[in-house]
Parts: sequence; C-alpha cells; structure tokens
Amino acid sequence: MALPVTAAFDAGQAGTMGVGFSGAGFLIPFFLGVIDVLQRQGVLQPSMPMAGASSGALAIMTASDQISLQMMREEASRLSAYCLKHGNCYGTLQAEVRRAAQRLLPRDAADRANKHGRLHVAVTYPSPSGGPVQQALVGNFTGRDDLREALEASIYIPYYAGAALSTSFRGKAAYDGSFAGSGPGFLPCPPGVSYCLRVSSLPACEMFGSMFGRLAFGRPSDRARGASIARNVLGGADLRARLAEMRRSFRASDRGAVRSEAAQAARFFEDLASLRAPDEGGADIFPGRRHPLPVSHAVWSSFMMQPGTPEQIEMMYRLGQAEARSWAEEAGFIRAGLAGQQQAPRQLRAPAPGPQP
Ligand SMILES: *[C@@H]1O[C@H](CO)[C@@H](O)[C@H](O)[C@H]1NC(C)=O
Repeated sequence: MALPVTAAFDAGQAGTMGVGFSGAGFLIPFFLGVIDVLQRQGVLQPSMPMAGASSGALAIMTASDQISLQMMREEASRLSAYCLKHGNCYGTLQAEVRRAAQRLLPRDAADRANKHGRLHVAVTYPSPSGGPVQQALVGNFTGRDDLREALEASIYIPYYAGAALSTSFRGKAAYDGSFAGSGPGFLPCPPGVSYCLRVSSLPACEMFGSMFGRLAFGRPSDRARGASIARNVLGGADLRARLAEMRRSFRASDRGAVRSEAAQAARFFEDLASLRAPDEGGADIFPGRRHPLPVSHAVWSSFMMQPGTPEQIEMMYRLGQAEARSWAEEAGFIRAGLAGQQQAPRQLRAPAPGPQP
C-alpha cells in the first residue's frame, strides 16, 4: 500500500519540518498530549525548528527535551491545582510562572537552547503610541535568566499575570506572545522551514470577543462556567492587594506614561476582541478537529484562564493525543490500519495519574 504523500510528510522525511504552538494558558495539557503522540510516532524531533507563544513557549521546552514531558505534566497539574485554589492566580501568575521556570529549567538551559539554535519564544512589543503591536521571535539567550525572562514575558497576560499592561524584557515593555493578532500573531512558526506543523489550543474560529459574551450571556452551561470563573477570582484572589498594586503603578508613572499606557491598553483590548483562533487552513492540529469537544466551545476556551480539575486536565491531554494521532494518520506518518508493522500506531495510553495537589 502506497503511503499518502503530503507536504508535511515530505518535509518530515527531508528534515525540513518545524513546529509552532499557539497560546494556551491552562490548556497546556492539550499540547502535552499532542507532544506525547508526535514524539512516540517520530514526527516531532527534539532538534527541529520550533516556535511557541505564551504557554506554547513552555511546550517547546518539552518538545525540544529541555524539560521532560513527565515533569511538565506534573508542573501543569500542580500549577493548575494551586491556581484553582488561588483565584486563578489573578494578578500573581507571573510570579508563579517564575517559580515554575526556576524549578524546571536545567542549569544549562540557555546554552542548550543556543546550541539547538532554532528555538523561538514569541513576545509581543506594544507600540508606545498605541499603534500596531509587534511580535518578535526571541532566540539566542544570554543566560538562564534571560531565557526565563523571555518565557515570563511570553506568558505575561496583560492585567492578569500582574498589575500592569506589560512586563519588561531586555529593557523593553513586552507582553504575551500570543496576543499579536490572528494567524501567526496567535500561532507563531519558526522561520526557514518547508512545512510548519501548527498546533492550536482552541477550537476553529473561536473569537475571544464573543467567548466572553457567551460566558456572560450565553446558554446556561456557559453562563454557569462564567459565573464559576467570576466567583473563583473574587473568592480566591486578593483583589484588594491587586487594586493597591495597580494604584501604586499608576501613581509611580508620570502623566505621559499613563496616557501612553491607556493608548496601549485600548489597542490590546481591540486586538483581543478581534482575535480569531485558526481553523483548518491555519492550523494542523486543534481541539474539535476530528474528535468532538467534550465541553462547549466557550467552556473549552475558558480553560485558558481558569485551570481544569484533575479530570478535566486528563480530558485535555487525551484529546491532544487523539487529535495528534488523527493528524499523523492523515498526513501519512502513521500507516492507518497497519497495526503491528514498523510504524504501528500504539494504543493511546491513559495518562499516568498526576501528583496529588
Ligand atoms: C541566533 O543567531 C544567529 C546568528 O545571528 C542566527 O542565524 C540565528 O537565527 C539565531 N537563532 C535564533 C533562534 O534566533
């Protein structure tokens, strides 16, 4: 039986394929399920060019073997459980990400990334005047702290990860690498590849603007999820401390800086409202592509900001495995129906139980 020949398969054979991961927030277990299957099938090679935005940047640390899949799964479960108990880590996420990166990144992480040479962490630079933002793919790190700061900037969700719109990276204001508009602004690809395997965490065409609307005004199950998120943030986050931090940061800025931040914030919310998750043409693997989403679109997408329970984390992981498998079959990497032979598809394993929170 002839293998189906696809552009992706050709690039895989020629060693000219790369991989890109979108933003994902607490949906990162979906990526880890994808990585598990693609690594076991030999589609994903640790040395391949990679780009990732936001928690997609953490995913490339695992895809490139800097942080083991097992360690990353445990950390995702631990951080999810912690943040679920602490108001979704509203206002404190950056500090938590820093602690996690300190724990997980190998001592020689920057050397290894530089030696790899084709790892790209996406960060977004706002324009001081509120003009169009710029996404940069950062590589070539000066040290472990520089790499850690790139990851922190890539995951810096404005006004959520900390009190301000942006954090600072290499002396410049920067924020979440997946908030640079639709397409590559959400799902970056490494340069110089003949095929970019694009992995998105969101169902096709999900619009951020309307997602918030559905959580507030949509069908009862979506509204219930929206209410649970609001309750969790109000009940678990120290809102008084967060507001005090915001007030301090405004007091410390001069009027020009405040005007500039207001213009940048207006741009950020405008970009967010029009952000559209990729569909079949814009991504290769995404939830709901070949397998039904186990929850509504709005509820799935809300896992970006409110972490799942251990059962929901497992659901994300398994859907990642299933979608990756379907794609690898269709693209010709797995010879469908030839189980038992050379490239035999393996059974989808149930993920090992995560650590107890
Ligand atoms: C690192 O620098 C080299 C030389 O300037 C460049 O060719 C390469 O693309 C850079 N790598 C990354 C990942 O940015």
